[in-house]
Amino acid sequence: MTKDELIAQGLPEHIGIIMDGNGRWAKKRMLPRTAGHKQGLTSAKKIVAAAAELGIKYITLYTFSTENWKRAQEEVGYLMNLIRSHLRAEFDFYIKHGIKIDHIGNLAGLPEDVQKEIINAKKDTENFTGTTCILAINYGSRDEIVRGVKKLISSGTKSEDITEETISKSLDIPNIPDVDLLIRTGGEKRLSNFMLWQCAYSEFIFSDTLWPDYDEKEFYKDIEDFQHRTRRFGAVPEQNS
Ligand code: IPE
Ligand code: IPE
Ligand code: MG
Repeated sequence: MTKDELIAQGLPEHIGIIMDGNGRWAKKRMLPRTAGHKQGLTSAKKIVAAAAELGIKYITLYTFSTENWKRAQEEVGYLMNLIRSHLRAEFDFYIKHGIKIDHIGNLAGLPEDVQKEIINAKKDTENFTGTTCILAINYGSRDEIVRGVKKLISSGTKSEDITEETISKSLDIPNIPDVDLLIRTGGEKRLSNFMLWQCAYSEFIFSDTLWPDYDEKEFYKDIEDFQHRTRRFGAVPEQNS
């Protein structure tokens, strides 16, 4: 499908991506895992640019989970450096595509210099009107919900005011639409603590492609696959006969 055909069929408003398989991609090439992360960043930029070209409103990238601290210090350090230097050095990339940066995850738990770059990138792109690219860094969905509930309690919310809406609003970004399409590369068929609340009615696509090999062509194909799904949200679709 061409870009225009894809757009004409109706796009998902919010795409979430679990970018998995960097380590295995590197291992296959006898390279250190870090080389996989570097190549993974190239894929992420390609896909974010493609999403911006199509006019996707929100794309959330699972970049570093609250569980990923369990990895070797060298790998964690490399990832933190990669995130920090990308946000600092590649601002042109965001300008070029009119991309607005946002963040979900536990900001306070990140190294201070990484926190600073995230805050700066958000501020520098806050008036951009293109695709919003949400980086999930030090993100865990359970952690996000726990922090949200704490916010509700400390603001004195009464139990009768606890609704799906108030809980949604207590999450890291209060007004983002639910994830319509969730793509996980790397062959594993699990959520690994990604947007549990926001994925309640998402369409899932699990791809065996390792993230550094994922490209625009497969991204288009996955969106096309999404367009052929029937979303029922628990209802019975109207019969034509
Ligand atoms: C995903 O790739 C990137 C992060 C979790 C940061 P992995 O590093 O998990 O790659 P595999 O799953 O080991 O191949
Ligand atoms: C999920 O991948 C986290 C990110 C892609 C950032 P993992 O590789 O950490 O997930 P598990 O450990 O296989 O569930
Ligand atoms: Mg993995």
